[in-house]
Amino acid sequence: MTKHGFSTNALHGGDTSFQPDSMSTPIYQSVAYPFFDAVEAAAISSGQKPGFTYGRWDNPTVQVFEKRMAVLEHTEAAIAAASGMSATFLLTHHLVGPGDNVVSSNRVYGGTFGLFNVGLPRMGANINWVTNPESIEAWEAAITPRTKFIFVETPSNPALFIADIPALAALAKSKNLPLVVDNTIATPALQQPVLLGADIVVHSTTKYICGNATALGGIVCGSHELIDGIRQNCIRYLGPAMAPFNAWLNLLGLETLALRMDRHCQNALAVAKFFEKHPKVSLVNYPGLESNPYHKMIKPQMKGCSSLMSIELKGTYEQATRFIDSLLIITHATHLGTCRSIVTHPASTTHAAMGEEEMRKAGISPSMIRFSIGIEDEADLINDLAQAFDAIDKKAKVKEDFTTGKYPQAY
Ligand SMILES: Cc1ncc(COP(=O)(O)O)c(C=O)c1O
Repeated sequence: MTKHGFSTNALHGGDTSFQPDSMSTPIYQSVAYPFFDAVEAAAISSGQKPGFTYGRWDNPTVQVFEKRMAVLEHTEAAIAAASGMSATFLLTHHLVGPGDNVVSSNRVYGGTFGLFNVGLPRMGANINWVTNPESIEAWEAAITPRTKFIFVETPSNPALFIADIPALAALAKSKNLPLVVDNTIATPALQQPVLLGADIVVHSTTKYICGNATALGGIVCGSHELIDGIRQNCIRYLGPAMAPFNAWLNLLGLETLALRMDRHCQNALAVAKFFEKHPKVSLVNYPGLESNPYHKMIKPQMKGCSSLMSIELKGTYEQATRFIDSLLIITHATHLGTCRSIVTHPASTTHAAMGEEEMRKAGISPSMIRFSIGIEDEADLINDLAQAFDAIDKKAKVKEDFTTGKYPQAY
């Protein structure tokens, strides 16, 4: 299917020949698949005959999603997982053992930061953070003889760091290491890391791929050897399989992904330009703006900038919370990548577990406000933001938790 364009592949990609006639992939809501006889049971279980055995590592609906994602990310295979975090965990567990090391940019989602910072030491391994990920020399200096993979999230959540994927891929190749890219924010509709030299792609499909906040999901896309290894040696024993219904929802999401990403990008640019001109905004992080330091890097590696952005407001913490609480259309939630626009305060929610010092190093200030711009009408989003800016100076009701000026604990 790779000879076809992205949207055709997003609808038809992957070998789905086992499927009965249906306009949408059937949901095989079953944990096991009856065998014809004992000979067939042994043949399928030993891998001599293709077939399905048990839902923790194989399911027909999930397999369609895996094959389609492999086509879209230009890899040989893919394995779906219960969430984005479980996908990165499965990959890490497969590649890393006691004494080993991972090298990662510190501009990552808070959960990924926790997995590497807390989870790796529990596995007897360790993390080398690259705190200046713009510098390829800094990446090179972080690599040790025990490094097993190089990890980068680009664009990053929430600071919108953009990595030079081809340069990192060249470094990884020169050290004989796989480069792993978390492609959650861009999605394969906007960025295909393997075509830029990366080896492995991970996603939280919970975000733009599913697209409407209905299903958690994750995926690792890579070589047959890697994916078979994770299937045989990790997911069987660790267990975080994607549910068939979630695979079905993710497949539905893929069907409209390219269309939605176009609209996300278009709305996000309009909102970013509005922020850039607004007198109450002191900083906008959105690589689609010409003033953004990463703007020149976009064209060679991305078809669009997606719709995550972060801003800093002028004024007090109380005024910032009043702004958030005054938004009417833009929903306040710890999520991103849905059709609905979302506002989040990373320092008290998604990234709180990092602690203030690590957040500062990763470019996340206590006052940063993150937006995931949805596919509503552009004018309605701008009007909603405009009225919330106006409300900053009015004595609007501030939610009780925030009146102390202290952030609530992470949850
Ligand atoms: C870039 C990125 N990667 C991974 C994850 C983890 O995904 P999930 O919530 O599906 O476990 C997130 C969640 O916000 C994310 O933003």
